[in-house]
Amino acid sequence: MLEIKQIEKTFNAGTVNEKKALKGLSLHLKEGDFVTVIGGNGAGKSTMLNAIAGVWPVDEGQILIDGKDVTKLPEYKRAAFLGRVFQDPMNGTAATMGIEENLALALRRGSHRTLKPGIMKNERKLYRDLLVRLGLGLEERLTSKVGLLSGGQRQALTLLMATLKKPKLLLLDEHTAALDPQTARKVLELTNEMVTEQGLTALMVTHNMNDAIHIGNRLIMMNDGQIIYDVSGEEKKHLTVDDLLKKFAEASGGQFANDRMMLSK
Ligand SMILES: Nc1ncnc2c1ncn2[C@@H]1O[C@H](COP(=O)(O)OP(=O)(O)O)[C@@H](O)[C@H]1O
Ligand SMILES: [Mg+2]
Repeated sequence: MLEIKQIEKTFNAGTVNEKKALKGLSLHLKEGDFVTVIGGNGAGKSTMLNAIAGVWPVDEGQILIDGKDVTKLPEYKRAAFLGRVFQDPMNGTAATMGIEENLALALRRGSHRTLKPGIMKNERKLYRDLLVRLGLGLEERLTSKVGLLSGGQRQALTLLMATLKKPKLLLLDEHTAALDPQTARKVLELTNEMVTEQGLTALMVTHNMNDAIHIGNRLIMMNDGQIIYDVSGEEKKHLTVDDLLKKFAEASGGQFANDRMMLSK
């Protein structure tokens, strides 16, 4: 479903701020793989997701989604294959539009149809049914402006929108990190339900090692622009946070004392 072959990305090449963020990174995801991604700050996790989404072109290598070479495709064209949820709840939804208008836009992803009030009225039942599943009472607020929602409500809605058209690949970048613990838990449960029920292929970056171990069928650890650990199936199930810390220490030479990962043990 996703094939990344030897991609390289350097930011600010040739300046004092030059940073090699991805160093010959390769990754192959099978359909239905639900992969958690961990690694210290600056490891290249977001850069990998941005490379897949086409935020900027990579310097070297190839990216294939469902067998199609998208390496040269601009971001807006790749968006037809992808669902994305970022850390910031302000991203991903249109604040000045209503809940149903946001959902209607998500439903029209990849097509050029405009929002006609009549069509939307017919789709209301679908929206209501979808929103009921979130368990946040949003089904009673179809016309409320999204800007009035809490961060958690907005993130749950973004998730719903990102998965509405069954993307070939769902990219989640610390999408619960900005939420309070209880809301984060709820949004994470929803994520797990949506990905497993629809059999989505997903990459989920998290700084919570316990979540990384218990969610999904595969875990990868990144360090310094590379994947340094890739584990799946039974082996993943039996991992402990201490195992991950050890791997992490080996790779980073023990320089992780201040890392956020330590705080989420
Ligand atoms: N747009 C950018 N411009 C310059 N440097 C960047 C940019 N994006 C990421 N970087 C750098 O690339 C490295 C990897 O960043 P990132 O992928 O955001 O790390 P992570 O998500 O694992 O914390 C960091 O050193 C970061 O500062
Ligand atoms: Mg990041």
